[in-house]
Amino acid sequence: MSLEMMAESGLNMMRQIDRRIVGHLAKPGSTDRSAAVMRIPASEYVDPVRFEREIEVLFRQRPIIACLSCDIPNPGDIFLFDELGLSLILTRTKKGDIKAYLNMCTHRGARLVDSCVSRSRFTCPFHAWSFDLDGKLIGLPDKESFSGLEREERKLVEIPVSEAHGVVFIKPCINSDPIDLEASLGDFRLPLSQLDLDTARHIKTDRVLVSANWKYLINTYGESYHFAALHPSSFAVIAHSNVMTYTSYSPHFRVNYALKTYSDIVELEEKDWPPRQYGGVHLSFPNTIINSDQRMGDNRFVTMFKIYPIDVDTSVTYFSTYRIGASEESDTEYETLHDATVQIVSTEDYSISERGHFNLKQVPADFEFVLGRNEVALQDFHQNIAAALAG
Ligand code: FES
Ligand SMILES: [Fe+2]
Repeated sequence: MSLEMMAESGLNMMRQIDRRIVGHLAKPGSTDRSAAVMRIPASEYVDPVRFEREIEVLFRQRPIIACLSCDIPNPGDIFLFDELGLSLILTRTKKGDIKAYLNMCTHRGARLVDSCVSRSRFTCPFHAWSFDLDGKLIGLPDKESFSGLEREERKLVEIPVSEAHGVVFIKPCINSDPIDLEASLGDFRLPLSQLDLDTARHIKTDRVLVSANWKYLINTYGESYHFAALHPSSFAVIAHSNVMTYTSYSPHFRVNYALKTYSDIVELEEKDWPPRQYGGVHLSFPNTIINSDQRMGDNRFVTMFKIYPIDVDTSVTYFSTYRIGASEESDTEYETLHDATVQIVSTEDYSISERGHFNLKQVPADFEFVLGRNEVALQDFHQNIAAALAG
């Protein structure tokens, strides 16, 4: 990314988005659109063979978001990652580096850690071998019985991990190459850096299990076409239905919905528009939505939706809300917004997703559903997955 791009401020980026949204609102029926309708075979959501290939290519060979830096701010803090058929410990060393290890003792494979309680070493519950935060074997009862064994070869098994812009990425694969964030993020570094996630503070996390393919869930975050019909008393109250801007940072993207507060500036000259903090709904490809919410004005907060496949028909979402920047005020209002988001997404978006996915399992193998030109983010998402699987 060029220095010029990095220097571009979040306020300027948001002003460009504002112009696009106001342009749409000034012309009824206008929204960002792709060139053509797109057809998707239903099998892409229900075929177990395709699913295994997605896991391999999208979730093992590419870095994905594990957590934010603020989830493990101090040496010995723990984030447990129990997804995608792996159990990983993420921690911070005394030097401040992030490490990720297989949650497995190198004696006979016992699970080392079961809670996120901070610690200065990992002690195995089976025979009490212990490891320091750098993964070195530092304690081994009855050394004599292991004479001749090199401690160096019994280090914890490391998994590639990398930290940038307040975000912790892992590549959940053993014996994998290190993470190349330049390659995997590309220009998406720019919006990611403008979210100020390095100043985040965790408020609340909820876990929701859903009987639907993981892509069905991701799709619900990428269009506002459904707001009026599905969310008449929730999201459609705060945002215009079927009006949005789409920005590709391929394979990542951002969509910006037309909040009702935009109506206040449609009639104003641009010089009179209030400055707006950078925000929007970001997809960190392939499975994490980061919504930098605009509802609290300058008091920014972010809700991160990490969606992990369990099997082709089942997924789990972690909803985590963070506040951005220092603040003296209480967290109560943010906890309430978090709870409302979890409730609405679970009972409206995910409920309809479960029933939709159920139907896709019943249809003939050659059935295709369609994505409209206004579902441009979803179209690109599918194309980006297809490109990754083909590559
Ligand atoms: S399996 Fe961990 S000490 Fe034996
Ligand atoms: Fe929705």
